Amino acid sequence: MRCITQFAQFTKWLGVISSISVLTVGAVEARDWSVIKDSGKMVVATEGAFYPFNFFEGPKLTGFEVELAEAVVKQLGLTLEWRVVSFDAQLASIRQDRFDFAIASHGYTEDRAKAVDFANPHYCTGGQIAAQKDGPLTIAALKDKTVGVQIGTSYMDNAKKIPGLKELKTYKADPEAFSALKAKKTDAWISDKWLIKSTLEKNADSGVVAGEQVFVEKVSMILRKNNKELMDQLNRGLAEVIKNGTYQALSQKYFKTDIGCRS
Ligand code: ARG
Repeated sequence: MRCITQFAQFTKWLGVISSISVLTVGAVEARDWSVIKDSGKMVVATEGAFYPFNFFEGPKLTGFEVELAEAVVKQLGLTLEWRVVSFDAQLASIRQDRFDFAIASHGYTEDRAKAVDFANPHYCTGGQIAAQKDGPLTIAALKDKTVGVQIGTSYMDNAKKIPGLKELKTYKADPEAFSALKAKKTDAWISDKWLIKSTLEKNADSGVVAGEQVFVEKVSMILRKNNKELMDQLNRGLAEVIKNGTYQALSQKYFKTDIGCRS
């Protein structure tokens, strides 16, 4: 009897050990389009703190990019499973294949393109200054001022190029950079122009206004390098939701205008 129990224990452990190794193998295995298609499900990462592109409404992940990705994946005949990953961890974790693609407002840069591939852009935008009404609202006015940005973003990279800043403060997520500006811990904030517009509409009493645009960028979904079939499928899905009007409906819903790139 005892022997049987021990054997049962042993096989149970074997089961645990082998499922651990399956999990580990699964985590590092690159998912090609055929594997994704067979699984019926696309695993997609976003951040959930970039209003109104990807954010939480109570417990629910939503926003322009969340709904857009859901439409693209549905167009491809698959279901979607979300992963919430902090923005500054997304480039590294995609290379470890923890998800099939990320949609979190990544602007194209040559540097990022060394690590990941970019799909066709799903919106065109720019980095913009925001400050209190009497604060620094132009690049020139930022001399000797403290600027807040989200860490790992193109706003951070571009703010570093502005000559004569007193200090560049980085925040884990964009709402913290906005809060720091409201609390006057910084003199200005640089973020996405659509995000600033929407955030200021929602916080009309903040005293913060939008200023000069600092740079322009094209925003895309990012995926693991050299995954051509998946790239083609994502671009096909995106083109389809643009063609069938879903894209424009979402853009109107969130921005009351078409934020697509005019090529
Ligand atoms: N567009 C900017 C960039 O490419 C910021 C993106 C931040 N995205 C986010 N989900 N917080 O760096």
